[in-house]
Amino acid sequence: MARGASARGNWKSSKFRLSEKLQVGNQPIQSISIIVPVQDQEWSKFTVGLGADGWLIHSEHEFVLYPLFSDLLQTIMTESHSKLFDLIFGRWRSQILYAGVKLGIFDTLEEPKEASAIAQELGLDPNLSYRLLRALGSLELLRESGDRKFSLTDTGQLLRSDHPTTLRGIVVLTEGREHYALWKHLGDMVRDGRQNAFVREFGQMAFDYAVEHPAYARAFDEAMSNHSCLQTDWTLEALKAYDFSKISHLCDVGGGQGHLLCSILAEYPFLKGTVLERASVIANRQQLWATKLNVGGRCEYVAGDMFGKIPKADAYIMKMILHDWSDDECARILSNIRSVAANRSRVFIVEHIVPGPEKPHFSKLYDIQMMCWGTGRERTLDEYAALLRKGGWTYIQTWYPASGLIGVIEGTAA
Ligand SMILES: C[S@@+](CC[C@H](N)C(=O)[O-])C[C@H]1O[C@@H](n2cnc3c(N)ncnc32)[C@H](O)[C@@H]1O
Repeated sequence: MARGASARGNWKSSKFRLSEKLQVGNQPIQSISIIVPVQDQEWSKFTVGLGADGWLIHSEHEFVLYPLFSDLLQTIMTESHSKLFDLIFGRWRSQILYAGVKLGIFDTLEEPKEASAIAQELGLDPNLSYRLLRALGSLELLRESGDRKFSLTDTGQLLRSDHPTTLRGIVVLTEGREHYALWKHLGDMVRDGRQNAFVREFGQMAFDYAVEHPAYARAFDEAMSNHSCLQTDWTLEALKAYDFSKISHLCDVGGGQGHLLCSILAEYPFLKGTVLERASVIANRQQLWATKLNVGGRCEYVAGDMFGKIPKADAYIMKMILHDWSDDECARILSNIRSVAANRSRVFIVEHIVPGPEKPHFSKLYDIQMMCWGTGRERTLDEYAALLRKGGWTYIQTWYPASGLIGVIEGTAA
């Protein structure tokens, strides 16, 4: 076996072929087989495993512990390779997940069932559905036992429609036909400098498309409510030290089905509220949160346009609204609200806030989704403060939940 620096030099300049047994994923690679030239000899095959002090190299003839070899391995399969594999195949995972949700697999598993029974119940091909179930098992959404029986894991439970904090709707929207189709335009948009793949793909902006395509509208509204089940808690947590007694009437502009506003009303019984929304979103009364959260007497749903007439209130909240729009559109919304707001009234903007370059953050990815979806973007705190100024408001402060995943930016009509 070759040893030492000169051997290392040789190897580095060689081509390395990875064996089929290569393991990928989040786990550190425990062992791989590689084929390398050893000095001037033939190509030789080694199995290499991670040992306590370096890489344990196993050839047919001997075992050696050989720390220098780790340099070589780092050029073959490092944490970076493993991370990249996860990214490259990320869409496989989300599409497997989507198929499971759309076919009703999670909803049908109230108790453990055999693959053949699941297939029969859902009208699926037994062979292909077993393979899908197995893949869902590999994603740790289902648990497979030896007799081809499947049950839900805790994570899989979150994909049932009846789970109180289900994420099913987000899966349906994110991997569904429309949003899936947007991503293929990303490169072209970045090249041309013109965002909004929805218009490129479907010829109209998403909210107009939703009016004509009820299935998309349902998926969108359900996904927003799913997001809200988490974001509402974060918002309430962020604002737990805020003195709501200064407010008597809160208006949620673009409040969707009202999860956030109704949860705030439930927390602060002296408040009354108004949800301003597009007529089609609030037409189906059964989907609205006011009754479900038992605040119907204090919550009014108003069909309207945030670019038009804004209901009078002494504070306004907007969650995931400004990120839908360009700076000019945001300034119009904010100044529109400002025009009916009394002096000293408040506006709360709930958004993912883009942190500095040193910090990886979901907002930096969500920003790309917004680039695809419409005219919007995610913004830094300074950018939100500038928007507030442009809309006639004064920035006061930002409230965060412990996770820091969202921020609540407070402005005042000074
Ligand atoms: C990204 S969703 C956020 C919904 C809700 N605030 C939430 O966080 O779940 C944007 C919302 O703005 C509403 N919207 C869009 N354009 C609007 C307009 N011109 N007037 C009122 N609401 C509008 C949409 O119908 C949608 O419910």
